[in-house]
Amino acid sequence: MITNRKLLTFLLCATGISVFFSTHDRRRFPKIFSLQQNTSVCACEKCLSEDELLEFNETVEPFLSANFRLSEDDFDWWKNLQDENRNFSTYRATVDMLFKIFPPSPKITEPSPDRCRSCAVVGNSGNLKGSHYGPLIDFQDVIIRMNAGQTKGYEVDVGNRTTHHIMYPESAIDLDNTTHLVLFPFKIMDFEWLIKALTTGFNGTSYMPVKSNITANKDLVMVINPGFIRHVHEMWLQNKGKYPSTGFMAVVLALHICDEVHVFGYGADNDGNWSHYWEKLKDKNLKTGIHPGHFEYEVIQQLAENHTLKFYSGW
Ligand SMILES: *[C@@H]1O[C@H](CO)[C@@H](O)[C@H](O)[C@H]1NC(C)=O
Ligand SMILES: *[C@@H]1O[C@H](CO)[C@@H](O)[C@H](O)[C@H]1NC(C)=O
Ligand SMILES: *[C@@H]1O[C@H](CO)[C@@H](O)[C@H](O)[C@H]1NC(C)=O
Ligand SMILES: *[C@@H]1O[C@H](CO)[C@@H](O)[C@H](O)[C@H]1NC(C)=O
Ligand SMILES: *[C@@H]1O[C@H](CO)[C@@H](O)[C@H](O)[C@H]1NC(C)=O
Ligand SMILES: *[C@@H]1O[C@H](CO)[C@@H](O)[C@H](O)[C@H]1NC(C)=O
Ligand SMILES: *[C@@H]1O[C@H](CO)[C@@H](O)[C@H](O)[C@H]1NC(C)=O
Ligand SMILES: *[C@@H]1O[C@H](CO)[C@@H](O)[C@H](O)[C@H]1NC(C)=O
Ligand SMILES: *[C@@H]1O[C@H](CO)[C@@H](O)[C@H](O)[C@H]1NC(C)=O
Repeated sequence: MITNRKLLTFLLCATGISVFFSTHDRRRFPKIFSLQQNTSVCACEKCLSEDELLEFNETVEPFLSANFRLSEDDFDWWKNLQDENRNFSTYRATVDMLFKIFPPSPKITEPSPDRCRSCAVVGNSGNLKGSHYGPLIDFQDVIIRMNAGQTKGYEVDVGNRTTHHIMYPESAIDLDNTTHLVLFPFKIMDFEWLIKALTTGFNGTSYMPVKSNITANKDLVMVINPGFIRHVHEMWLQNKGKYPSTGFMAVVLALHICDEVHVFGYGADNDGNWSHYWEKLKDKNLKTGIHPGHFEYEVIQQLAENHTLKFYSGW
């Protein structure tokens, strides 16, 4: 009997050791010890950071901060997105000015074993119409919307809370005082616009009209790192298309700042039409332009299939 128990103990230890050595991902270690001590990286059922995402690179900062120095190589990549012809010194001077007005470091909730940072990423697809996803979206801690996406009048399907709204000058809308304005920058003018549109008014022109003033809380402004845009384009999209769409950036951003990601409002509706939830389809041949739309969609589907995120296909 005693020998049997010893044998069992031995077998259990041996299994433990082989599990221990078969994992080559340091981030999995906490899971193994979780029987003795609660060292899970988050309080969700499953934590994103424990997943092995090939494309994931934790050392790439998603947001700019006052102390961050963009490499000239990343600047040279970024300046081609919308034909920036001003130089790196001008970029740096403009960004320095930006952080004199806005918070010098982004407010991000750090991972912790006692919280579950659950996020809803809400795209603008017409497949949200009639979905009744509102309560499910509002239930998450972080709710990321983008561009012209609004909630008023559509609360039942899209919810009414927004913690982060990703935009660029040409897609800007007014925000309420509790929402983080997240700038997706494509050119130096976009930083100048952000500074002016929230202070004295912006007077410049772009490839389409831009609002000279917007309403948003200056203390909650965050700016996406151009180096992160490059990382997403190279690692996640294999350099397909010219640059990632706002929608795809939002999903990858969520993978970096959340423990659990729920994706709503992406892709075509049930009739195969691409339109926004707030409008009737005008152009039946609407495509995704310079973005590698189909490839982006496939990557998101793959992430859903292997349970990295949860995808809600709508109505
Ligand atoms: C899921 O798919 C993504 C995207 O291809 C990949 O990076 C990740 O490693 C996969 N995760 C699992 C658990 O297979
Ligand atoms: C991650 O990003 C850093 C900084 O950009 C880079 O030096 C490093 O090579 C990247 N790692 C991988 C595995 O791509
Ligand atoms: C960058 O552009 C500014 C404004 O056009 C100019 O004054 C400056 O000399 C340029 N700097 C470099 C390093 O080329
Ligand atoms: C770890 O502890 C936190 C609270 O400290 C709790 O919310 C969480 O559910 C615990 N996780 C596990 C796996 O026991
Ligand atoms: C959102 O909806 C909930 C429930 O319907 C309501 O209690 C809450 O006041 C609304 N919040 C906002 C900001 O409209
Ligand atoms: C918005 O929030 C800031 C703090 O972040 C506060 O100083 C300001 O008074 C608020 N404005 C309104 C209109 O509530
Ligand atoms: C924008 O705001 C500034 C400062 O409040 C104001 O002087 C300017 O007239 C506004 N511009 C427009 C078009 O409303
Ligand atoms: C705005 O632009 C117009 C025309 O380019 C110019 O006349 C005007 O002085 C500018 N206003 C400001 C406040 O810069
Ligand atoms: C979707 O497209 C089909 C044919 O392409 C069209 O008949 C239908 O009216 C469209 N649906 C909406 C909601 O626009």
